[in-house]
Amino acid sequence: MKKPIKKPIRKAIIPAAGLGTRFLPFTKAIPKEMLPLVDTPTIQYIIKEAVDSGISEILIITNSNKSAMENHFDHSYELEEKLKEAGKEEELKQIKDIADMATIYYARQKENLGLGHAVYCARTFVEEEPFAVLLPDNMIECEHCGTGLQQLIDTYESVHTSVVGVQQMSKELLPRYGVVDLGNSWRQEETIHMLNGIVEKPQPGTEPGDYGIFGRYILTPEIFDVLEEMVIRQKTEGEKEIHLTKALVELMTTQMIYAKVMNGKRYDIGDKMGFLKANLEFAMRRPDMREELAAFMQELLDRNS
Ligand code: G1P
Repeated sequence: MKKPIKKPIRKAIIPAAGLGTRFLPFTKAIPKEMLPLVDTPTIQYIIKEAVDSGISEILIITNSNKSAMENHFDHSYELEEKLKEAGKEEELKQIKDIADMATIYYARQKENLGLGHAVYCARTFVEEEPFAVLLPDNMIECEHCGTGLQQLIDTYESVHTSVVGVQQMSKELLPRYGVVDLGNSWRQEETIHMLNGIVEKPQPGTEPGDYGIFGRYILTPEIFDVLEEMVIRQKTEGEKEIHLTKALVELMTTQMIYAKVMNGKRYDIGDKMGFLKANLEFAMRRPDMREELAAFMQELLDRNS
């Protein structure tokens, strides 16, 4: 097995070029990443997670329908001027801070060819460094263990090779995820395991375990060699999707990949029910909303019982 070169993680890719069909009709004109948790677009939480984990450069992979997202992270001079004139200092700071959060670049995925292809679109941005991938459909929160991505970066700093974030999932959820076959643990560390295999969205009864890939990855740049071959093959064989999971399975033949069992509560915000639950939970944390919302939910329950 070849040993990847040790380098720090400075760059992150956020694939956000999906069509968002699970949220139609909302996503006809507005990117699903702009769906808010209370008043903040979900993509802003993901950018914050990357920045809080020490990432300095972020590339968002988009498509032609995603300009609202680019505008959100840009300065809005007219709005800033109006807020200034109205003396709304707090709001002014809030919107200026969003534009200054990170250095964000954008690249278009010109064909809708799946997650592996979206990652492949980032190859010139990444160059020869290990990098992070954050899928904006999932978030994880853990009070005492750092951001989701930080947990993977810490793992990478121990193992110095690719790491995928996994969590134990209920049987019903597994067909929606990449499901891993966990091998031996790394130096008696119970939450870090060698990866023996991955099955993308297994049929019930064929899962290799009950840990699903949760949408956070640290990848070595050698993944691009694998993806390139898949892109060439796709052109002749015409497969509809280039799966990142397939590329990982192929990378495993030349490099070790580890799975990190992530700590914290998972929010599946790419799913309608998960999104509604996250919204209620986030609203209940806000002192300005908590009481009124709790009373309303009680009233709603009483009315429907
Ligand atoms: C993708 C990956 C899958 C992973 C999931 C996490 O699937 O292909 O392996 O478990 O993200 O959200 P998607 O949700 O894009 O269908």
